[in-house]
Amino acid sequence: MDNTIDEIRAEIAAPSGKPLLRGIHHLALNTTDMRMTLDFYVRVLGMPLVHGLRTPSRPPGAGPAHGIGTPPYPNILHYFLDMGGDSLLAFFEYPKSIAKVDRDTLGAMQHVSFVCGPQRYHQMLARLKANGVAIAAGPLLTIPPAIHSFYFFDPNGIRLEIVCDLEGEEEDLQVIRSCAMPEAELRAQLAAISDDKAWIEDMIAAMSR
Ligand SMILES: [Fe+2]
Repeated sequence: MDNTIDEIRAEIAAPSGKPLLRGIHHLALNTTDMRMTLDFYVRVLGMPLVHGLRTPSRPPGAGPAHGIGTPPYPNILHYFLDMGGDSLLAFFEYPKSIAKVDRDTLGAMQHVSFVCGPQRYHQMLARLKANGVAIAAGPLLTIPPAIHSFYFFDPNGIRLEIVCDLEGEEEDLQVIRSCAMPEAELRAQLAAISDDKAWIEDMIAAMSR
């Protein structure tokens, strides 16, 4: 442990505006048809396969090895795809009998958004259309002045988005910088949540810098 408790407390009290974590390692989603899902993500969205396994089977009466919240089915398919940005998209294959999720309920995953450069953005739109994938919305301006998106669904009914700064670079995507907003505008937005001025100052101090 490098940090003393006092250093950690000081860091919590005075946020630096810099992230402590680096981003997503893997996002784990559920399917009932791994082959159909791999076909879509590998062939249509062009994600390379990275790793595939079956989760461990459990001895009779044993609890899940990864604790509470582990998928409640032993010995199921679990595959990992490269979604770019050194991050993985993972799927578990659940039994076909599972109920569909309400994506608009508390704690649900509403949608997944992938980012790419302007040239690739147009290519991906054409690629989806060529594969017969319906574009559910867009392309449209989502964050002025230049962040554009379009939306579609994977074969599991998961809502997906591809987002792009159309004025940005093809390779150096600058996601955080391109989505940042002026301090005064953020202050005005926060004031709509609470009139607690000390809380607003704390949030402004923790703005991305
Ligand atoms: Fe989004």
